[in-house]
Amino acid sequence: MSTQPCALDLIASHQALSRNVLDGLTLDGVGLAQIAAQFGTPTHVIGADSLRARAATLRAAMPYVAIHYAVKANDHLAILSILAGLGFGADVVSGGEFSRAIAAGFAPAKIVFSGVGKTGDELRLALAGGCGQINVESAEELEELALIAASMKITARVALRINPDIDAGTHDKISTGRAGDKFGVPHDSAAALYARGAALPFIEMRGLAVHIGSQIFSVGPFQRAYDRLAGLVRTIRAAGSQVDLVDCGGGLGVAYHNETEVLPEACYGAIKAAFGGLGVELAVEPGRWCVAPCGVLVARVIRTRLEAMEQPMIVIDAAMNDFMRPAMYGSYHAIMATSPADLVAPVMPTDVVGPICESSDVFGRARTLPALGTGAVVAILDTGAYGAVMRSNYNSRADAAQVLVENGQAKLIRARGEVSKLWAREIVPG
Ligand code: LLP
Repeated sequence: MSTQPCALDLIASHQALSRNVLDGLTLDGVGLAQIAAQFGTPTHVIGADSLRARAATLRAAMPYVAIHYAVKANDHLAILSILAGLGFGADVVSGGEFSRAIAAGFAPAKIVFSGVGKTGDELRLALAGGCGQINVESAEELEELALIAASMKITARVALRINPDIDAGTHDKISTGRAGDKFGVPHDSAAALYARGAALPFIEMRGLAVHIGSQIFSVGPFQRAYDRLAGLVRTIRAAGSQVDLVDCGGGLGVAYHNETEVLPEACYGAIKAAFGGLGVELAVEPGRWCVAPCGVLVARVIRTRLEAMEQPMIVIDAAMNDFMRPAMYGSYHAIMATSPADLVAPVMPTDVVGPICESSDVFGRARTLPALGTGAVVAILDTGAYGAVMRSNYNSRADAAQVLVENGQAKLIRARGEVSKLWAREIVPG
């Protein structure tokens, strides 16, 4: 089964991480064992300095492209307000995310509303709130939006999301651009639907959008999707409609293990190659790439099991309800010891599991870790995206705390959930 690089290599490959003899493993300069002691475990920790650094890297790699951060990756107000402050826009997929993005300080004009099943209420909310762009995904949605916009006398700015039938080569559950996936308008019916939109009152057809999937590690699928869209821009223009913008979606992969990432510069190269000569405004919607490596989940060993096991097993106090990716997608996330002594101790293959009563509640098999005793603190890496945001209260487990590290200080940004509140909204009839 999988093993993992040694602690020093993991630190070297993670900009947010470092270590020193006093604090052990640190995130943006603050000791993770200390954070565990101060705030308890399990706790999601995210580094604001790392987030700013990644945002700056992305900004520099993609000049002339508007960046709409995909809120779903990590929707905490503190994260959103940092990105809004840096001039990013937001990509939202529900009325809740729209309201959250506004609450965090995004200008409504910089918010793009995507999603295959927006309700009438959500469309009304977006229009009333001045949403900058609604990415329409079907003929029926276009007609409903037109009716709602006309009734509100507010013009909806629309991009048509295209399903280009391109396989992004990613995990089946996060692939969105193949013909059989539920997203977007089929490429072949797009031009006619676009023309229909252009003829509707209170609809302003602004352009096209595409998002072929998440966790993509090759520039080829991006290029093929963008080339198809560029062809469509020409077709639609030739038919007499105006196309002002192309929204190129998200999907840049993050190396959780030994994958080779597509550099944002390479993705920008594909965008330029396809759309450079078309005179369109360009936008992207990255989520994972911005936040994943900025976060870790710290947890404490609650049980060690050495008896009759193929290898030692540690049970930690974080579980699949706190961080779902390993259980849901079989995703690999490196796991590290955090104390100064544990970081240099001899290692052995160790299974790391959560306490939930499901065999999928496993964070890693045969991970190279030192002998960790009960009470030791571990860090699961790269949990900043699709981490806390995908939590649940399964097994009546309260939400983990969330902590932001900024300027060398750790601050609580979301209090640990309280068990007694878990049933507060439940009603026992009679
Ligand atoms: N735009 C749209 C329309 C999307 O559906 C998504 C992600 C993004 C942008 C951002 O994609 P990113 O840059 O983060 O790859 N929970 C899964 C990922 C689901 C992604 C869904 N859509 C995971 O943990 O891997």
